[in-house]
Amino acid sequence: MKTRRKENQSPFDNGPKSGAGIDSVRDVSWPHTNAHVAGSDKPVLITGGCGFIGINLAHRIMSGGQSVLLYDNLSRPGAEKNLRWLRQQHGDLVRIEVADVRDPHALRNAVDRASCIFHFAAQVAVTTSLVDAIHDFNVNAGGTLNLLEAIRAQDDPPPLVFTSTNKVYGGLPDVRLRVANNRYEPEDDTLRAGGIGEDRPLDFHSPYGCSKGTADQYVLDYARTFGLPTAVFRMSCIYGPHQFGNEDQGWVAHFLIRALKREPITLYGDGMQVRDILFIDDLVDAFLLAQANMNNRQVCGRAFNVGGSPANTISLLDLLRMIKALHGERPDVRAGAWRPGDQRYYVSNVAKLSAAVGWAPKVSVREGVGRLYEWLRDYALRPRRRAMSVDAARNSWSEVAHERVSRPARGVRQEAS
Ligand SMILES: NC(=O)c1ccc[n+]([C@@H]2O[C@H](COP(=O)([O-])OP(=O)(O)OC[C@H]3O[C@@H](n4cnc5c(N)ncnc54)[C@H](O)[C@@H]3O)[C@@H](O)[C@H]2O)c1
Repeated sequence: MKTRRKENQSPFDNGPKSGAGIDSVRDVSWPHTNAHVAGSDKPVLITGGCGFIGINLAHRIMSGGQSVLLYDNLSRPGAEKNLRWLRQQHGDLVRIEVADVRDPHALRNAVDRASCIFHFAAQVAVTTSLVDAIHDFNVNAGGTLNLLEAIRAQDDPPPLVFTSTNKVYGGLPDVRLRVANNRYEPEDDTLRAGGIGEDRPLDFHSPYGCSKGTADQYVLDYARTFGLPTAVFRMSCIYGPHQFGNEDQGWVAHFLIRALKREPITLYGDGMQVRDILFIDDLVDAFLLAQANMNNRQVCGRAFNVGGSPANTISLLDLLRMIKALHGERPDVRAGAWRPGDQRYYVSNVAKLSAAVGWAPKVSVREGVGRLYEWLRDYALRPRRRAMSVDAARNSWSEVAHERVSRPARGVRQEAS
């Protein structure tokens, strides 16, 4: 079916597309290298590329010599620190477009230049979505639709991996739980052993759940209706270096940061909530494998639950205990009410992704939390910044400033999410 639109061809068009290249990425095997990941100098496009997940993926890709185009409005506190760090590591391989996903023209321009795409830019917090649901919808649902339309307009659409969330399954109120060792766990043996699978009915809860779930469904449907090469990751909690977690999002990093700063933590709910947490390096492996296998029917047009799996679970109370062991003292804890849609238990069943691309998490909770703690203590929260030459700093900032001035988002507000 010939379905791609031509009438919206933009003046930014660069002509016909060739393939792309992220085949030399360190530590990742490429069992089914496809046309999109071989032999092009076009950059990999990462929307939200200056955030926690984006910067880690960009670092891995550039470590293999491939250039990356980061598309980010720098609204997340810490995003500029991440960008500065990436420039120190990779210099000119880093390209940055300071723009908003609500700007279809800037997005189209970036997509025209891309070999393959990872879409991470988002309003990322449930709490913020409760305050400004319209903003949340415009960024998460509207921004994703802008991106899909830009991809659909290409002669040779670049493959897309989109990061959805476990929140699309709602609060799981029908899952019968019991308490064991101060943690919630399902009464059902199969669920306890395997986790939540993709066959779970969708049940969007909270504006964030609705906007991400809407985007999730659009990404899948654009594969079905228009034949675009897309895949969706419904992710549980991801953690690791370059995560500037706060009370609204990124709880593992947030707890560690508060402990290191000797500040109190508010525990919303009873602390026995259980999550499977996934260390960022494992997630990056999964992203690259999904892109490399996009020609595979088991990947293209599919949604995958992605997390640490039943092997890597932790409760909030467990993390506090772990912090005491790592840091020597436990932060002060204050009690808060349950948050809307907060799941008592969520653990991903990752069997579908494992079967499709041969992936499994490798980093244990103990190892991963220790690595994040050390990064925060020795790098992110160190009182004095690492030495950077005056010239490097000047180049880094002048280029960012130039991008900001030369490419303002059209007709949209630039605001922190
Ligand atoms: N971290 C997790 O545990 C987790 C879990 C499930 C899903 N996700 C999803 O993964 C993606 C990345 O998450 P993260 O933890 O790296 O978040 P992050 O906040 O660190 O990164 C998001 C980036 O997007 C940018 N951004 C925000 N609004 C934008 C806009 N309108 N236009 C352009 N850029 C914009 C921010 O500046 C930031 O750099 C998000 O889509 C999030 O919903 C994350």
